[in-house]
Amino acid sequence: MSDTPSLRTEFCGLELGSPILNGSGTFDAIAARRVFGDEAVRVGSFPFGGYVSKTITEEARVGNPPFRTWETPAGMINSIGLPNLGLEGFLEAQLPELRELPVPLIVSVMASDRDGFARIIGRLSAAGGIDAFELNVSCPNVHSGLIVGERPEETAGLLDRLRPLTERPLIVKLTPNVASPELIASAAEAGGADAVSLVNTLKATAIDPDSDRPWLGAGSGGLSGPAIRPIALQQVRAVAAEVSIPVVGMGGVTDGQSAYDFIRAGATVVAVGTENFRDPLAGLGVMRGLEEVLREKGVEDLGAIRGNTLS
Ligand code: SIN
Repeated sequence: MSDTPSLRTEFCGLELGSPILNGSGTFDAIAARRVFGDEAVRVGSFPFGGYVSKTITEEARVGNPPFRTWETPAGMINSIGLPNLGLEGFLEAQLPELRELPVPLIVSVMASDRDGFARIIGRLSAAGGIDAFELNVSCPNVHSGLIVGERPEETAGLLDRLRPLTERPLIVKLTPNVASPELIASAAEAGGADAVSLVNTLKATAIDPDSDRPWLGAGSGGLSGPAIRPIALQQVRAVAAEVSIPVVGMGGVTDGQSAYDFIRAGATVVAVGTENFRDPLAGLGVMRGLEEVLREKGVEDLGAIRGNTLS
């Protein structure tokens, strides 16, 4: 066997140089280029095999009132509230630069109803240069953020509405805040989704020791990081056993071993989220760490280890 196992991964018809993505909103590729220069976004130094944008909404949003984050012993709570430039601002100010990234571009979108999602997908499809869409139906930080993602019939209805609008892959981002995420995943698959990604954050809060009041301006937020990894692994395992579309696994991925664990649990692709805030090059570390784990275990083919003895 060759010294370096291949990480090349086919995902929804996209050729990824590695199975490591960023979690939406956890890595700003435009800011990284501004701060670290063009080198940061070249083939070989860009830390991910595909790039997922921050979630775009139709209208611009300023996000939630401060404070927006709280560090926990093994993770963080965020209550960011989807600040973004809105659809037109994204098209004008961000999409041209994101199209220059050396990896496939997945744009995350969110709306409060099916028609809103449809308008965004229609407009972005027409703009071109986007390889796939992630439908964020799982944000715990905005009004109506979870309604579609908590009910199978709503998820299926959304896919019914969006499927005819684009030939690009549709990835549905699932919430862990339900008893059976596999039911939502199955509804997404039945509606024509190409993949599901999970988990988004777990609803959480923190109390300010000085005021005895909730620390976060919005009162609550979503927990991410290593603290939620065992929950995420189990949900990925349950969903992967239920659907035949690919699964993007995330929730506390920090190194090669945790990425490997998600692939063993059934994920085709793994996303690094919270760890990017600690180390903007975390994606590269996870990728090299995964190569190392595969080499130690004598694995040449990622497909051969994916969830095959876990049921
Ligand atoms: C946020 O901006 O509030 C985080 C995004 C999400 O939870 O989907």
